[in-house]
Amino acid sequence: MQIIYKEIDENLLKKIIVHYGNEELIKSHINLENGNYSLAAFHEDKPVGFISVCTQNFTVPLEDKKGADIAIIEVDKNYRRKGIARELVSCAEKWAKSMGLSQIRAWSSYDKPEAIKMWHALNYCMCPATIWVEWCKEIVDGYHVAKRLNPTDGLDKEFLLNHWYADIYEQKINKTDEAEFVLSILKDGKYNNVKTILDVCCGGGRNTVPIANAGYKVSGFDADEYMLEKLQKRIERDKIKNISWRKSDAIKDNWGKDFDVVVLAGNIFVNIYTEGGYSEAQELFIKKASECVKPGGYMYLDFDCSVHFNNDDENDLTETEKDTKEWIVFEGTDDIGTYGKFIMMCDKYINGKLMARRRFEITPKNGEKFDFITYRTAKHFPTFDETKTWLDKYGWEILRLYGSRNKENFNENTEGNRAVIWARKN
Ligand SMILES: C[S@@+](CC[C@H](N)C(=O)[O-])C[C@H]1O[C@@H](n2cnc3c(N)ncnc32)[C@H](O)[C@@H]1O
Repeated sequence: MQIIYKEIDENLLKKIIVHYGNEELIKSHINLENGNYSLAAFHEDKPVGFISVCTQNFTVPLEDKKGADIAIIEVDKNYRRKGIARELVSCAEKWAKSMGLSQIRAWSSYDKPEAIKMWHALNYCMCPATIWVEWCKEIVDGYHVAKRLNPTDGLDKEFLLNHWYADIYEQKINKTDEAEFVLSILKDGKYNNVKTILDVCCGGGRNTVPIANAGYKVSGFDADEYMLEKLQKRIERDKIKNISWRKSDAIKDNWGKDFDVVVLAGNIFVNIYTEGGYSEAQELFIKKASECVKPGGYMYLDFDCSVHFNNDDENDLTETEKDTKEWIVFEGTDDIGTYGKFIMMCDKYINGKLMARRRFEITPKNGEKFDFITYRTAKHFPTFDETKTWLDKYGWEILRLYGSRNKENFNENTEGNRAVIWARKN
């Protein structure tokens, strides 16, 4: 069942009133004014759930703080137990975080025990209470529920940055040519026994999903929970049964075993998060890849390799060179209204290493812009020969070598070229 979520406007409000009746209750609880948030869930154009949240000003002595107050949340009784209420609450929490609100609260009455269980499962603090409900003019038993969102001293910057990054990565880095390359090779009759594939550092599933859609059983792992949330959403949206994923650190954790194919895509050689040396991490990836496949299993590896980058000493860089060379990798607005820029700083090659820092300029919906600069990393761009040494060492035989996913020839002598490798574990 495909459920679509849309912010409520006047037109959608009318549909909700037609579907649920009780115009007075709905109009008094769904507030479409600025500073509030109202979202509806639709199934085949029918409104099957909705939530409306207001900004609540705190009183003295917390008059400078604000919270979010869920005025109403409702799911059509034929659509309960399908995760719709949880998704509505999750979207409301994200909105409240983007607005810098410090908490979110709601009231849940005893007549909906499944809702009370949901709040508890979602980590809300539960406070049993009896209240006077004005619209039905009754005393009602239930729970006040509340959750702390942003840190007391302001925005949850880590959430805003990571959520933004995963969302914009999915929007901008959406080519499927790596998956198509892998599938074009597997189409060859020789690979009919291939059933299981491990997508290492799978991110939001840019390759995982199309490979699974071609019928393979795909496992993926990644360290980034925000990317994995994207993958989970795609699995739910497309009802994909043949993908399993886990949160895992590629350096510290085991990759599993007995896969038919291991995929190292997304230029992972220069995108590894590691606290250790960079070339050591790259070699470790090749070693772990060889340990996770069956004997005779295969590997797809695609990376930018260096051949003859300059050998300048870092000390030769002037301060200006160090700090002014910047380019925007991507920019855009995410699904909760945060605008940001991902800027790469100081791309100087020193002894085959890219000296780089990432800078993020993030403007959340509440307008409080902040910058986030990562520590400086010396990203090692391995040469093809160096990579070949690792492949030999861990038992990989290159079956095919290209310079692009369009199967152009590999050219060792071009600076900044790409190697696309299909290899077998002997
Ligand atoms: C450039 S993205 C590629 C994502 C995906 N494979 C694709 O091609 O779109 C790199 C991914 O590697 C993940 N990653 C980097 N280092 C990692 C590590 N040590 N353990 C687990 N995941 C890691 C990041 O979280 C990120 O999702």
